[in-house]
Amino acid sequence: MKGFGVLGLLLPVLLGWASSHPVRGRKSFNKLLLISFDGFRWNYDQDVDTPNMDRLAQEGVKAKYLTPPFVTMTSPSHFTTISGRWIEDHGVIHNMMFNTETGWKYSFKTTQNKTEWWDNGVLPLWITAQRQGRKTASFHYPGGGAKYKGEAVQRSLVESYSHPDSNETEWRENIDIVMDWFTKEDFDFVTLYYGEPDNVGHKYGPETENRKVIIQQIDRTIGYLVEAIERHSLTERLNVIVTSDHGMTTVKKKPNVTEILLTNYVKFRDLVKFHIVDYGGFGMLLPKPGQTEALYQALKNAHPHLYVYKKEDFPERFHFAKHERVLPILLYADSGYNINAQLIIYFNKGDHGFDNVHMDMKTIFRAFGPDFKKNHLAEPFDSIHIYPLMCKLLGVTPEPHNGSLAVTQEMLVDSYDQQQGAEMQRAALQKTALGLGIVTGILAVLFVTIVTYTAIHRKKISTLWPTQRPSPSCFPSTAPGKAGPAYVS
Ligand SMILES: *[C@@H]1O[C@H](CO)[C@@H](O)[C@H](O)[C@H]1NC(C)=O
Ligand SMILES: *[C@@H]1O[C@H](CO)[C@@H](O)[C@H](O)[C@H]1NC(C)=O
Ligand SMILES: *[C@@H]1O[C@H](CO)[C@@H](O)[C@H](O)[C@H]1NC(C)=O
Ligand SMILES: *[C@@H]1O[C@H](CO)[C@@H](O)[C@H](O)[C@H]1NC(C)=O
Ligand SMILES: [Zn+2]
Repeated sequence: MKGFGVLGLLLPVLLGWASSHPVRGRKSFNKLLLISFDGFRWNYDQDVDTPNMDRLAQEGVKAKYLTPPFVTMTSPSHFTTISGRWIEDHGVIHNMMFNTETGWKYSFKTTQNKTEWWDNGVLPLWITAQRQGRKTASFHYPGGGAKYKGEAVQRSLVESYSHPDSNETEWRENIDIVMDWFTKEDFDFVTLYYGEPDNVGHKYGPETENRKVIIQQIDRTIGYLVEAIERHSLTERLNVIVTSDHGMTTVKKKPNVTEILLTNYVKFRDLVKFHIVDYGGFGMLLPKPGQTEALYQALKNAHPHLYVYKKEDFPERFHFAKHERVLPILLYADSGYNINAQLIIYFNKGDHGFDNVHMDMKTIFRAFGPDFKKNHLAEPFDSIHIYPLMCKLLGVTPEPHNGSLAVTQEMLVDSYDQQQGAEMQRAALQKTALGLGIVTGILAVLFVTIVTYTAIHRKKISTLWPTQRPSPSCFPSTAPGKAGPAYVS
C-alpha cells in the first residue's frame, strides 16, 4: 500500500507541471508600436512623392482613409484611439482643460500633465495592458503623462513646452530610443507621437508647399523607421500602426466669405458666463443663469454656416454631448469657418475640429509587421476600431469599448485560424504531456514499490537489483513536453 502513497504525492506534481508549463519559447504575441503624426490628412501623400509610404502600402495594410471621432481635435481623438471609447464616454472633450468658475483655460501642453483632465474612469490601453503583464511606454503621446486610478504608464515622456516640432534629427533619435526600449528593455507596447504635420497645416495651410515639404520629411522618417526596425532585428517581432488624429482644411476668410463673429449676434456681457470658442470650427457656451433660451434663440439662425444646439439636442451620431463636462450650448461650423467670439484673433491658415463627415477631416491608417497582410487596401473605417485591433495584437483582454474587431480583423494574416490552430496544437501537446506523465508516474510508482518490496525482502531475494536506486530527480527530467517545439503564433 505504500506505493499508492507515493503515487498520491507524485501525480499532482506531474499533473501540475504538465498544465503549468505550456511550451516555453517565444511570446505568443508580437510587440506593437503605435505612431501618430498629428493632423495628417488622408490624402496628404497624394500630391507629393512619398516612396517610403508607398512601399509600406505594398508591404502592409493601407486604409483608404480613417474617420476620427467628433470633435476632430488632438487630445479627444488620441484618447479615443487609445481607449476605444467615444469622447462622451472618456470625457477628454477638448484640447483645453477649463474651469467655468475661475474662467481658467489650460493649453494642450499644460493639460498633458494634468491627471484630472484624463482620468475619468475609462482606462487607456497602456494601463489595461500593464495590468495583464505587458510592458508599455508612451513617447509624447497625448494622455501618456497622466495617472489612471493611481497608476502611471511604466515609461512616459511628456512633450516639453520648448519641444521643437519639426527637427528631423530629433525625430530619428526618438525612433532610436523607442527601438532600444523594445530590444534592450523588452517593452511590448509603445506609443510615439509627432506634432507634425499639424503645426505646418495650421500655420501655412494644407494646400501649400510648406505642407508638402513636411510630408516628405515624415516620409523620410518612416523610411528611417523601417531601417531601424531591421537594424534592431525587430522585423519579425514588431507590428507597427501609423495613424493620426484628424485632417486639416483651409480657413475661409473675408472678403471671400462672411466670417463667424459671435459678438455680432449676442452681447457676451449679458448672456454668456463662460465660453470656449476661438478654437477652430467648434465651440461651447455656458449661459448666464436663466439665459439659455435667450442665447440659443440669438444664435440659432445667426449665420448660414453655423450650427447651434442645446446639449440635449446635439446629434447622436457625434457621440459627443453626453458627458457632464460638455456645456449647455454647442456650436459647430461648416468646413473652413472658424468660430470667433468677440474679435477675429485667429490667424491660422488651416484648421480642424469640424464635422468628421467632411473629407478634409479624414486621416490616415497604415500598418505593417508580422501579423498584417501585405499589399492590402482596407475600406475606410472609424478610428474607434483601432483599440480592439491593438488588444488582439497584444493578446490583451479589452475593457468595455465602442469599437469592433470585426471591422479590422480582415487586415490580419489569417490570424484567427492560425492562432486557433496554435492553441489546439498546444492543447494536444499538453494532453500528450499529461498522458505520458501519468504513465511515467505509474511506472515510477511500480518501480519504487518493487524496489521497496525488494529492500524489505532483501534477505529472501538478495540477488534482485542489489545496488540501483531510482534517482528522485529523474522524474521531472523524463517528463515529455519540456523540450517540445517553441510556441510561435
Ligand atoms: C510634466 O511633468 C514633468 C515631471 O514633473 C515635468 O518634467 C514636465 O516639464 C511637465 N511637462 C509639462 C508640459 O508640463
Ligand atoms: C535638432 O536636434 C538635434 C538632436 O537633438 C540637435 O543636436 C540640434 O541642435 C537640433 N537642431 C535645431 C535646429 O534645433
Ligand atoms: C479667396 O478665394 C480665392 C479663390 O478660391 C483664393 O485664391 C483666395 O486665396 C481667397 N482669399 C482669402 C483671403 O481667403
Ligand atoms: C460605448 O461603450 C460603453 C461601454 O460598453 C457603453 O456603455 C456605451 O453605451 C457605448 N456607447 C454607444 C454609443 O454605443
Ligand atoms: Zn491634432
